[in-house]
Amino acid sequence: MNKKLLLDNLRCIPDWPIKGVNFRDVTTLFKSPEALQEITDEMVDLYKDKGVTKIVGIESRGFVMSSAVATRLGAGVVLCRKPGKLPCETIQESYAKEYGVDTIEIHKDAINENDIVLLHDDLLATGGTMKAACDLVKKFHPKKVYCNFIIELHSEFPDSRNQFGKDIEVTSLLQF
Ligand code: PRP
Ligand code: MG
Repeated sequence: MNKKLLLDNLRCIPDWPIKGVNFRDVTTLFKSPEALQEITDEMVDLYKDKGVTKIVGIESRGFVMSSAVATRLGAGVVLCRKPGKLPCETIQESYAKEYGVDTIEIHKDAINENDIVLLHDDLLATGGTMKAACDLVKKFHPKKVYCNFIIELHSEFPDSRNQFGKDIEVTSLLQF
């Protein structure tokens, strides 16, 4: 992976959205055709032999790579959304975030027991968002669950990746 290309295209915004948060802005990674391609290639490389059938993208910044990678892996995309956005019957989980509380939901018929699921989000901080998403996905009893982030804030939140469950393999492209 061309780490320098990704680091050169990642923008950091101090004290946003609240004081003390150094916000890693992935929109500048997505804006760069080269960085977008590099992230896609790296994720495809990580998961090409895993038999992934569904990528669960987490609203909203997890949506972007999910479809790009799914088309390359021959997988489908499932949307894990904030409340009130999905039209059919859902299951929900609430969670504490780095700054606030939130809820996510997924369609009740989104995943089945034969699926091999890759959960994807742009960033791992406290892990609250992904923990809730993992708990939702586990309710479908899929064959296997993987978990991926573009960015892992490992120095600040070293234990976040350990809370999803021992059976879930976690990868991230950039660690800070
Ligand atoms: C951010 C980020 C991750 C999550 C990480 O999303 O995109 O989804 O927070 O935080 P955590 O590990 O502490 O849960 P946000 O909820 O701000 O929404 P967005 O992606 O729609 O901008
Ligand atoms: Mg998000």
